[in-house]
Amino acid sequence: MTDKKLLARAYEVKTLQETERLYDDWAATYDSELIENGYMTPQRCADVLAALAVGRAGPTIDLGCGSGQCGQALKMAGFGPLDGADYSEGMLGMAAQTGCYRTLGRCNLMEPLGGQITRDAGFSAPYRNAVAAGVLNPAHTEPSAIANILEIVAPGGLFVFSLNDHVYPGGGYQEAIAEKEADGAVRTVFKSYGGHIPQRGLNAWVVALQKAG
Ligand SMILES: C[S@@+](CC[C@H](N)C(=O)[O-])C[C@H]1O[C@@H](n2cnc3c(N)ncnc32)[C@H](O)[C@@H]1O
Repeated sequence: MTDKKLLARAYEVKTLQETERLYDDWAATYDSELIENGYMTPQRCADVLAALAVGRAGPTIDLGCGSGQCGQALKMAGFGPLDGADYSEGMLGMAAQTGCYRTLGRCNLMEPLGGQITRDAGFSAPYRNAVAAGVLNPAHTEPSAIANILEIVAPGGLFVFSLNDHVYPGGGYQEAIAEKEADGAVRTVFKSYGGHIPQRGLNAWVVALQKAG
């Protein structure tokens, strides 16, 4: 299977099991294929967090960290300590090679994170900042993931994530965010539409939520 078929497959997977197989198969060539296609979202998310965060010190977690592209951008911006979590062991192996994470571990964002992102596993929730670049997709990271992620964000902390043309609006994320805002749990503090994978003509929203203090 060629690299190009793997990028196409990313928009066809329907279940978490198919997602895991895709990313395990793709791990070794993911970076080269995404760079070739001009993938912008990890850097955009890191730039938004850098613009909004008060200071860079304090634990930050990269959820659905993949091969570590967003972690590397966050490290360049001075954030740390950085932890990362993903469902694919293959992608976690690539992320480990970047050397930019303190702790890396497996998680399923569709399940409550309190029992997964634990101190025993080397994590340090609650996090001052959380990011999820290119991760939210109804096939494998449903809108309920937003509430799961907010569980491990500290009061006043930021959650920055992307929603690409395939999933927003229409994927249920807009409603999940509105529900949290109506509860007074979060405020949308930033939202911008821009490039995602330019060589494929895809754009994405980058959104930042601030958890109530
Ligand atoms: C398109 S990649 C993005 C990786 C990285 N954030 C980046 O921007 O390069 C999506 C990642 O989300 C992970 N993922 C998908 N569903 C997940 C879930 N339910 N829980 C945890 N990770 C998940 C995949 O394994 C994959 O590494």
